[in-house]
This record gives sequence, C-alpha cells and structure tokens, in this order.
Amino acid sequence: MRIVLIGGGAREHALAWKLRQSSLCDDLICLGGNAGIEQLAECHPMRSDDLDGIARFCQQAKPDLVVPGPELPLVLGLVDKLSAMGFPTFGPSAAGAMLEGSKGFVKDLCAAQGIPTAGFHRVNDADEAKALVKKIGAPIVLKADGLAAGKGVIISHSLDEALDAVDELMANHAELVIEEFMTGPELSFFALADAKGAVPLTSARDYKRAFDGDQGLNTGGMGAYSPVAQATARLEGEVMDRIIEPTLAGLRKQGVTFRGMMFAGLMLTEQGVKLIEYNVRFGDPECQVLMPRLQDDLVELMLGSIHDQLHHRTPKWSDQAALGVVVSDRHYPSGSSDSAEIRGLAELASEADTMIFHAATKRNADGVVVNTGGRVLTAVGLGRTVPEIRGALLPKLTQHLGDNPQLRWRGDIGYHEG
Ligand code: AMP
Ligand code: GLY
Repeated sequence: MRIVLIGGGAREHALAWKLRQSSLCDDLICLGGNAGIEQLAECHPMRSDDLDGIARFCQQAKPDLVVPGPELPLVLGLVDKLSAMGFPTFGPSAAGAMLEGSKGFVKDLCAAQGIPTAGFHRVNDADEAKALVKKIGAPIVLKADGLAAGKGVIISHSLDEALDAVDELMANHAELVIEEFMTGPELSFFALADAKGAVPLTSARDYKRAFDGDQGLNTGGMGAYSPVAQATARLEGEVMDRIIEPTLAGLRKQGVTFRGMMFAGLMLTEQGVKLIEYNVRFGDPECQVLMPRLQDDLVELMLGSIHDQLHHRTPKWSDQAALGVVVSDRHYPSGSSDSAEIRGLAELASEADTMIFHAATKRNADGVVVNTGGRVLTAVGLGRTVPEIRGALLPKLTQHLGDNPQLRWRGDIGYHEG
C-alpha cells in the first residue's frame, strides 16, 4: 500500500522508520521531510497546515493511508477533509482534536466526567481573571485556550507575576484557564483509540527545559525515555479506568467519536494521578523512544484505529528501555546558527544500539548533511536500563558530534531513573 506521512521532524523520521518495517508498506511518501526521512521516503515540500495542498497531493497520489505527524493539521480538520475524499487518515476529527486544541474544553469534560485534574476556572475577561487570581493567590497556573506551541502556559510563583501573566496571555488569546498549582512527578501515558474504545500503549517521560537540572527556557523537548518505572501495570490500569475511558465516554455524550492517539500528560500528586493535558498525536521526542520499542506492525495498528478494528488487542513492547537525547542548535530555543556540516553523523549511526532520527537537517548542493534550525536530531540509545543507556550514549555523542560547535545537548536526560 501507499502511505503518505506529513511532517519533517525527528518524530516523523521515527514514524517513517517504523512504517517502512511493515510488510503492508510498499511505497512511502513524505510531505515535509528532512535529510533522514529522505533516505526512507520520497519527499515533497509542503506545509503541514496547507490542507488544500495536502488534499490536492492525495487526489493525485491516491494513498491507502495518511499519517499526519503534528497537531496543527488535525486541529484544522485534515482527517475530516481527507476521510470525506475517501483516503484513510490516522488521527482524530477536528471535533476530537479539541482534546489538544482547547484546554477549556478538556477541563469542562473532566468536570462533567469526574476525571481527576487540577481545579480550574475559565475566564474571558482580564478584570475577572485578575480578581480570581487575587482570590486564589500564588502559586497559580494560567493557560491560554487554543494551540500555543508550548508557549501558552505560565506558572506564577508570586501574585505580581500572575497579574502580569494575565495581561500577557490576554493580549493574544480570548480565553484563559486559571488552574490550581499541582506538584509531583510528571509522566506521559499513551493509548490508541477506535470508535469502540481504547487500548493502552506505554509510558514515557520528556524533558522540556533547555538545560541540565531542568533549568532554562521551555523547549519542544530536549530528550525522553520509555518506559517509566512509576508507570506500573496498576497505575496504567487506573489511568485507563479513571482518565482515558471516561474521556472517550464524555466525548461520545457530545456526539464525538475519537479515533487516534491519546497522549495524556499526567502528574502523580499526593492525592493520586491527575490529568494535566491531552495531546492527540505522538509526542516529539517521545515518539523517537516509543517506535524502537514497539514490537507490533504500526500500519496495522493505525488501520485498526481508522476502521474500528483494534479489538482490544494489546500492542507489544520490547522489554528494553529507550532513551533519546535531542541534539539541538546551541542557541535553541532562542535562535539558530548558520547551517554547517554535521560532522560525525555516519560514525554515530554505526554505533551498536544507537539510532539517529533527523529533525532540522537537509543535504546541501554537495550532498553534505547540514543543520537548518532548532532541534537538529534525536540520538536514541537502547539497552537494559536508563542509566546504562545514558552512560553509553553520552560518550558516543561527545566522541562523534563534539566537533560541531553549532550543536549542544543535555547530559542528564532520564535522571529520574537514577
Ligand atoms: P501543558 O501545556 O498544559 O502540559 O503545561 C505545560 C507544563 O506546565 C506541564 O508539563 C507542567 O509541567 C506544567 N503545568 C501545567 N499545568 C499545571 C498545574 N496545574 N500545576 C502545576 N504544573 C502545571
Ligand atoms: N514533547 C511534548 C510534545 O510533543 O508535546
């Protein structure tokens, strides 16, 4: 079958690698792509929010499966559009993608279904927001409603900061969610849904801050690992029963059938596990540590979700752990350097138990792979335990990529596991 993948990050490189392993995949095309995906798929330039362009491309290419990587096309309604044209497309409809697209929508759904989450208020007026902030006090969490590419959440530790945050967020967004501040370790849990229900996948933890010790600015993610030791079978069962299933039931009550990825951001608080947020696609860099551990056919799973044939099958995962370190531009997330050759890539890729998934890379006119932006690649190590993998991977990164002054990475990804 012919598969069209949409996107150009390391997440999509990991998806391309896994889709290619399926005996069902005869032909892989990527709208977007990078120097790594290019080795696995025919790539065409396309913005992932150009729904008309994607639809025109599919009309010509007649894919048997379309796999959008990022959230934006899902929230904009790509699945609705392509499904109506007869192209099986993995992921939720625009109505289902509200789980990621609107924080206010999710909070109301949690309230209606009794799903454990932080206490909240939805407000669309700055004065009302400030009055509430003064009443609740700091620390307090303010979130913009709507997609904000990770920049819509402000955690304020003083009242003055919180009042400024109201102005900052209200300048660009019509609605805010004001949330109770929760504390505890965070982890992500993934489930795959069809119209009949959801099957559990596995767990991961990502590292959002730019520097070691969780210091510096928030980024798209500087590394991740899977599985998370705290995600015991018991916790996973609890998350399915108390969070995932009631979410699907709440959507059904509103006439919404959800198909696709449910990526739940969770916090283990003293009162038990609580939902922080949902995403409706694979995470980046989480996907890069999930795909090497998946021991099932990804194409079959995606088709199962689209055609409501998951039949409560439980996808199998390797007992091995995977740890991904994002190699970024040294200025990321505040800017990027000029393109330059990435030296040592082939040597790093040829190391045992090591995989490279490209993000902002391209081949220049001489065929040399160069960096083109913030997150350049994810290096993934596989092994028995997270500390063992980190101990093996970091020296390899220094040895092979250390000669690239434009690049940097964190040295403590996975520290939660020792
Ligand atoms: P979100 O985009 O909703 O996942 O929020 C981004 C990050 O902000 C989360 O990963 C948490 O670290 C933090 N966060 C969000 N909501 C809360 C909350 N209610 N209490 C404490 N931290 C939060
Ligand atoms: N790594 C977090 C995300 O993909 O949203």
